[in-house]
Amino acid sequence: MSDILHELFGLAGKTAVVTGGAKGIGAMISRALVRAGVHVLVIGRSAHQGEDFVASLEGPGQAEFLAHDLSTMAGVQAAAADVAERAPAVHLLVNNAGAFSASPVEAADPARWDAEMALNLRAPFFLTQGLLPSMRAAVRPGDPARIINIGSFGALWGKSNNGAYAYGATKAAIHQLTKMLASDLTASGINVNAIAPGYFPSDMTDGFFSAVPGLKDMVVASIPAGRLGTDQDMAGAVIFLASRAGAYVSGTILPLEGAAWQA
Ligand SMILES: NC(=O)c1ccc[n+]([C@@H]2O[C@H](COP(=O)([O-])OP(=O)(O)OC[C@H]3O[C@@H](n4cnc5c(N)ncnc54)[C@H](OP(=O)(O)O)[C@@H]3O)[C@@H](O)[C@H]2O)c1
Repeated sequence: MSDILHELFGLAGKTAVVTGGAKGIGAMISRALVRAGVHVLVIGRSAHQGEDFVASLEGPGQAEFLAHDLSTMAGVQAAAADVAERAPAVHLLVNNAGAFSASPVEAADPARWDAEMALNLRAPFFLTQGLLPSMRAAVRPGDPARIINIGSFGALWGKSNNGAYAYGATKAAIHQLTKMLASDLTASGINVNAIAPGYFPSDMTDGFFSAVPGLKDMVVASIPAGRLGTDQDMAGAVIFLASRAGAYVSGTILPLEGAAWQA
């Protein structure tokens, strides 16, 4: 890597936590960070799949899988304690784990509503709270620790996304929490930003697309960039926000959606 790329985008030797980091968008992020030389602590529920995933990653970094259910407060606290035991300092926290459902207003289910609020909204906030000491330990002059929350382009517009009411509300709230946390934490060396992805391939979008025949083609046709997001699109945004290049960026919601929101 040339000097300027190394200076601006190098991440080697840092430690990151990626929730939901063994599948979909989280896996794209974990894979990129390990290739950039980062020690990645991947959190998710599915232990076997998670272990297989981290074993498949190619360095120079390394990854460990931590099995925790972030939909409960006990799970969030156990995850924070586990991270603190394994890593003295956390340079990057990516709050990515999330769940999606959609239904007509009349069919919305309160239990499902609570589950999405717990995983998509409560977990990122309280995992952030639990990891603050580890993140403060990573802060260096001119090199803040970073939190990246994964929001959604669906929370940038007013459409119902086929009735994804709880999901959309959690994602709009994550965008707001991102700005509020940035206003409180940036002065002490922790930058907080969100990425608002458009459509990326994952179990979540597979479920969404398979619910309506032809929907995937219609969605792709509606995206001005003419395609879904890729590993490289996600990796580029995360590496920018996590590296020296993004050290002066805090409180931003970065749309990553090929202009789908504007369409
Ligand atoms: N894909 C898209 O197009 C898109 C667009 C906008 C925003 N997003 C957002 O991007 C993030 C990732 O979505 P994705 O599409 O990659 O979804 P996905 O393929 O369904 O992955 C969800 C991830 O969250 C983890 N997870 C689910 N429930 C959990 C729990 N209770 N505790 C801990 N981890 C849990 C899953 O691992 P386990 O099953 O092992 O627990 C999995 O790794 C989400 O926040 C989503 O809202 C996605």
